[in-house]
Amino acid sequence: MLSRADNDLLTQVGPGTPVGQVFRQYWLPVFFAYELEADGAPLRAKLLGEDLIAWRNTDGSAGLMQNACPHRGASMFFGRNEENGLRCVYHGWKFDVEGSCVDMPNEPAESNFKHKIKAAAYPTQERGGIVWVYMGAERPEPPLPGLEWLDLPASQVVASKRVAPTNWLQGLEGEIDQSHVSFVHSRLNVAQSDGRNRSMVDLIRALDRHPHFEVVETDYGVCIGAGREAPDNQKYWRITQHLMPSHVMTGPYGPDPVRNWRCWVPMDDTNVFVIGCSFHPTRVFTPEERQRMEDNAGVWTVSKAMRRPATSEPFGAWYGLPDLGNDFLVDRELQRTTTYSGIAEFWAQDSAMQVTMGPIYDRTKEHLGTSDTAIITVRRRMAATARALQEQGTMPREVYNPGCYMVRSDAVLLQLGDHWFEATAERRTATPGLNPACV
Ligand code: FES
Ligand SMILES: [Fe+2]
Repeated sequence: MLSRADNDLLTQVGPGTPVGQVFRQYWLPVFFAYELEADGAPLRAKLLGEDLIAWRNTDGSAGLMQNACPHRGASMFFGRNEENGLRCVYHGWKFDVEGSCVDMPNEPAESNFKHKIKAAAYPTQERGGIVWVYMGAERPEPPLPGLEWLDLPASQVVASKRVAPTNWLQGLEGEIDQSHVSFVHSRLNVAQSDGRNRSMVDLIRALDRHPHFEVVETDYGVCIGAGREAPDNQKYWRITQHLMPSHVMTGPYGPDPVRNWRCWVPMDDTNVFVIGCSFHPTRVFTPEERQRMEDNAGVWTVSKAMRRPATSEPFGAWYGLPDLGNDFLVDRELQRTTTYSGIAEFWAQDSAMQVTMGPIYDRTKEHLGTSDTAIITVRRRMAATARALQEQGTMPREVYNPGCYMVRSDAVLLQLGDHWFEATAERRTATPGLNPACV
């Protein structure tokens, strides 16, 4: 349970809020490079409570500026994206990617008024096919987090994004909670394989539905071990990585594991998007693998058939059709006969739970058990980071330590006496060219 003050602290992300300030110290993954077209249509964005407009310049650089034109507040969404700048169509004021007003055609040519006008604009950089945004004050900006997939060729990565109408913390807490997998994501008859060769893991999860949780605080965030009883005096450990501020890597599966990364990026206090990718560290995806990942629903990705038609609202191309308005398309017959939840798409099983907690869950009402250890630790890390930044001006230590992000999640069978954290140290280090088998 949290106090009301702590719940507010952790869930508010607008300008000037302590956790909002924490998020502003990190580069945030926002657009896929292909979403912004040079001299193409600007896109609405909403980040950390701020209404913004994104565009790509003639020269290829990406811009992100305040939505309201500094002249008299008309939306820059309608702007003309031309000759390396975005021009407001109301009176023609034009801005570059730094937010400087570079043309003011409704003022006399001799006027120097335009030099006094500066719009809020945020630095961007592109890496790993993603446009990253930095909303903090440090100049030069800190480095990007050293995530291993940033330098992989596009042929080894499949990426996607999804908007959810909840506070960011609900999404993140769902990701680091291994215990829900035995329930909301389970099948009634575990002998029915889901095609991913996971029947052994499904069986372990069905037989031991109360994993033993252990957490270790690290340079980058929190490393979470969830151990379940397994045959032959073994324990099945799934290791989830939480990396500040809101990155997650959950355990992969199988002998040639496809790995994953996701980040929960707050749009405002009651909306978030999750952006992420599946990647293979050592080989390209086959066309069939790529097709399957792009078309089907995944842990956090919407299937092709269930995507809501794109709109021009912020990240409006990234909504799933199942939502609260249609009860996430729950099928009671399916629930009786086949799956625990009766909700078809994997991500929607999570979303139905997270959205019905309310836009901002009131954590003064919760009752946390031993399976919630990871959630408690991650909240503490964020709260402590926010207080240190607010009260002492202390920069989160990982911001200038990009190398600490070179880690991996894991899924292994260990002997009962082995300590999961020590036993997996090497496997959790992201080593280029290596991709150890998982279970
Ligand atoms: S409101 Fe944008 S130029 Fe006047
Ligand atoms: Fe889940």
